[in-house]
Amino acid sequence: MKELIEIYNRFADTYHQSRGIFDMSQIFKDFYTILNMEKGHLLDLGCGAGEPIPALFIEKGWKVTGVDFSPKMIALANFYQPKVRTILSDISEVDFENEQFEAVTAIYSLFHLEKEKHRPLFEKIFRWLKPGGKALFTYADRHYTGAESFSGYKEFMGEKLFYSHFTPLELRNILMNIGFDIIREDYRDIGGEIFLWMTVGKP
Ligand SMILES: C[S@@+](CC[C@H](N)C(=O)[O-])C[C@H]1O[C@@H](n2cnc3c(N)ncnc32)[C@H](O)[C@@H]1O
Repeated sequence: MKELIEIYNRFADTYHQSRGIFDMSQIFKDFYTILNMEKGHLLDLGCGAGEPIPALFIEKGWKVTGVDFSPKMIALANFYQPKVRTILSDISEVDFENEQFEAVTAIYSLFHLEKEKHRPLFEKIFRWLKPGGKALFTYADRHYTGAESFSGYKEFMGEKLFYSHFTPLELRNILMNIGFDIIREDYRDIGGEIFLWMTVGKP
C-alpha cells in the first residue's frame, strides 16, 4: 500500500482542486435525512482533504474524525477543515472503542483495500457504531471495473491504482451476516463514474 500512499500524496492538491466534479450534495442530503439526528459524531474513513462530506457534517454542528494514510491529504484536511480531528493511519489498521459513532462514511476509499480486508473492516464499523447508527460507503462493481468481482489495477488521474470488490450479492451477504440492515443500495452516476452507494444501519 506504500505505492498508493505515494500516489495520493502526489496528486493530493490536484485531486482537492478538482473535487467539485464529483458532486456530493444529493449523497449528503439523502444520508443526512436517513440519519435523522440533530448532532452526533461522524467517522470518515479515507477522509482525503476533509471535503466535502466531513465539512458538511461540521457545518451541521457534528463532531468529525477523519482517517487517511496520506500525510499530504491529512495536511490539506488540517488546513481546510481544522475542526475535523484527523488521524494518519491505514483504515484497515485503525481502531476505536465500541459504540463511539452515530455515523461512519467511506467515500471513494474502501475499494482501494484488498478484498480480504473488507469484511474485517465492516465488522469493526459495526462495532464502532452506536445502536441505531448508520454507515454510508462507495463500493466498486462491474460498472467501474468491468468484472463481477475484481482485484487489480485501474487508471485514475493518469496513475494505476489498486481496486478490489466482491460481487454486489457477496457484499450484501457479508453485511447482513455481520448484522447490518441494508437501508439503501443505489447505483449512482456522479461525474460520469458509476459506483454502488450502500447505506446500512446497526439495529
Ligand atoms: C479518492 S480519495 C477520496 C477522498 C475523500 N473521501 C473524498 O470524498 O474526496 C481516496 C482517499 O482514501 C485514502 N485511502 C485509500 N486507501 C486508504 C487506506 N487503506 N487507509 C487510509 N486511507 C486510504 C487516500 O489517501 C485518499 O485520500
